[in-house]
Amino acid sequence: MNVTASAPAKINIVLAVGPAREDGYHNLATVFHAVDLRDTVTVEPAPPGSGVSISVEGEDAASVPLDGSNLAGRAAVLLAESTGRSADVRIHINKQIPVAGGMAGGSADAAATLVACDALWGTRMSRAQLQTLGGQLGSDVPFAVHGGTMIGQGRGEKLTPVLSSGTLHWAVVPVTGGLSTPAVYARFDELAADSRVREPTVDDDVLAALRTDDAKALAPLLRNDLQAAALSLRPDLAMVLEEGMKSGALAGIVSGSGPTCVFLAEDHIKAKVLRVAMLMRRSRSLEEPGLRHLPPPGYPGLPALEVTGPAPGARLEE
Ligand code: C5P
Repeated sequence: MNVTASAPAKINIVLAVGPAREDGYHNLATVFHAVDLRDTVTVEPAPPGSGVSISVEGEDAASVPLDGSNLAGRAAVLLAESTGRSADVRIHINKQIPVAGGMAGGSADAAATLVACDALWGTRMSRAQLQTLGGQLGSDVPFAVHGGTMIGQGRGEKLTPVLSSGTLHWAVVPVTGGLSTPAVYARFDELAADSRVREPTVDDDVLAALRTDDAKALAPLLRNDLQAAALSLRPDLAMVLEEGMKSGALAGIVSGSGPTCVFLAEDHIKAKVLRVAMLMRRSRSLEEPGLRHLPPPGYPGLPALEVTGPAPGARLEE
């Protein structure tokens, strides 16, 4: 018997970062937004005593670690330990979310593994319990379990719902090479060394724009306090952002700690137009950023994925 679950990538509509805490983390005020770009995890029982084994297929599969650092494997071990059983399981991950891309792909794998192993082992955890376990694995895992659009505080693990209506349409440009999240936070600290970093908040305007499903009102409010740090480590991303804006995006930001860049479109037709315009633009961009998807022959520009949000959190698949 095997069990399959999926979990979504996230975009941070707002990522406000506070000063470094004593434990090295930063207090955040973020608006997490799950989008319909999902990784899928299939788990099946392995012989007693054989432990966890992991295999990966899909985009960027080769750059996913298969050792004890893999968040999906750690999720299986944590669930097993907390329910007093041994973690003998084969985990197969189908990756669609960029690896080390700032869209919480590893957290999605962990969330999907928690849901899949819970069903496989009949451990009958509540959603709230899975989120609490997820928080021990990484700051973004509770949100990957929950999905939707939520405010995240603390490290990002304290979630409160956001009232939102309608659907937001995005173009996502995955860039290869990845960025290390700790390295981006460290650069944030360096850049902020001479200024006083304020405790982070989410402005009411953002919540009002989400409540009324107003992409145009939301666009100027997109905010990522890690963007300057990500751009200083990957200056080529400035060109990706510029190309998206020239192609008709309402707004563009680096996603989380990057390097993936995301662009907001007014509606689903404008998102298609944006994607095609980015692909058609004759740009210098291909000479510098490593693009995960090469443009089809004959197209000079940036290949983007069209995604929408909010999307549901980790869930079982048929
Ligand atoms: O929680 P997670 O393992 O995903 O975090 C990875 C790294 O990102 C942390 O070790 C820390 O350097 C940084 N981080 C942070 N503040 C947060 C979340 C992550 O400094 N709120």
